[in-house]
Amino acid sequence: MNDAILSIRGLRKTYGTGVDALKSVDLDIRRGEIFALLGPNGAGKTTLINIVCGIVTPSAGEVLVDGRNWQSEFRYARERIGLVPQELTTEAFETVWNTTRFSRGLYGKPRNDPYVEDLLKRLSLLDKRKSEMRFLSGGMKRRVMIAKALSHEPAILFLDEPTAGVDVELRRDMWEVVRKLRADGTTIILTTHYIEEAEEMADRVGVISKGALVAVDEKRDLMAKMGKKTLEIVLADPLPAVPPELAEWKVDLADEGHVLRYQFDSHAERTGIASLMRRLSELGIAYKDLSTHQSSLEEIFVELVHGGGRETVPGQGLSLPAGGTK
Ligand SMILES: Nc1ncnc2c1ncn2[C@@H]1O[C@H](COP(=O)(O)OP(=O)(O)OP(=O)(O)O)[C@@H](O)[C@H]1O
Ligand SMILES: [Mg+2]
Repeated sequence: MNDAILSIRGLRKTYGTGVDALKSVDLDIRRGEIFALLGPNGAGKTTLINIVCGIVTPSAGEVLVDGRNWQSEFRYARERIGLVPQELTTEAFETVWNTTRFSRGLYGKPRNDPYVEDLLKRLSLLDKRKSEMRFLSGGMKRRVMIAKALSHEPAILFLDEPTAGVDVELRRDMWEVVRKLRADGTTIILTTHYIEEAEEMADRVGVISKGALVAVDEKRDLMAKMGKKTLEIVLADPLPAVPPELAEWKVDLADEGHVLRYQFDSHAERTGIASLMRRLSELGIAYKDLSTHQSSLEEIFVELVHGGGRETVPGQGLSLPAGGTK
């Protein structure tokens, strides 16, 4: 059975400038999931979302919302989709309450104040209902954008960079909000530069690079399949270079020769750890400590997008190499 709430088929987009923003993307979104689309700046995330939301016209391909074509049955699709765009746009002098209520009206939905009230409550905005938008903080504004996007009770919610530029605490609040929405049955597709966000929230992850989906998988499977393990051996005395006797293992030195790192495939029958340890002892290389480290989604992402070879910088692990907030 195909339980896709959204089917994207052969979607391409070449902008008037000649930029190939999307190169034939196929993707099914499952009902009720949280799907995170990861990709560096300019990968095509917003283009993809804007096409599905009917804001950008594709060069080729189609989108089915609940099996119905999103162009020929535009109203049907529009009713079922809510979008929080990457760029926040709000009426500075409008109140939170009116912003949300009017948006519902724009979709031709009858007035339903209890629904709007409940929505604002869920987003912890009820006490701000009378505030004008211009008096709200950026994080609050973003919540109002979510309220706006949900005002017409859509089944699918797109969040384009929902937490860009939002502080850690508020980001966690936002995650909570999104989880609650999912628990209520909303299907959520979000784009993010924060790997941690995908790691924390997503059921499935799609990695997009230069307009192509390079991986789509359950988050857990992606991490298990792509993930490598590293054995870190803290040496008693630093080594100036990797001894030639260790050439048959994939080892390198870190921390100015104090740490010998061995990358191994944890799914392999033989990890090579036992033989490496034997060889170390034969060579008289003593060590003080051993630990293993499973590669994170971030490392997997860097591998997929840049073809590996890059080091991740400890402490800067949260955002993507080419990413950042804007
Ligand atoms: N309206 C437009 N006209 C011409 N080129 C565009 C337009 N919008 C986007 N592009 C180009 O299409 C490519 C994909 O852009 P898009 O905004 O979809 O990327 P993104 O993944 O959302 O990036 P970011 O992470 O920076 O938001 C980029 O090369 C961008 O410059
Ligand atoms: Mg974007």
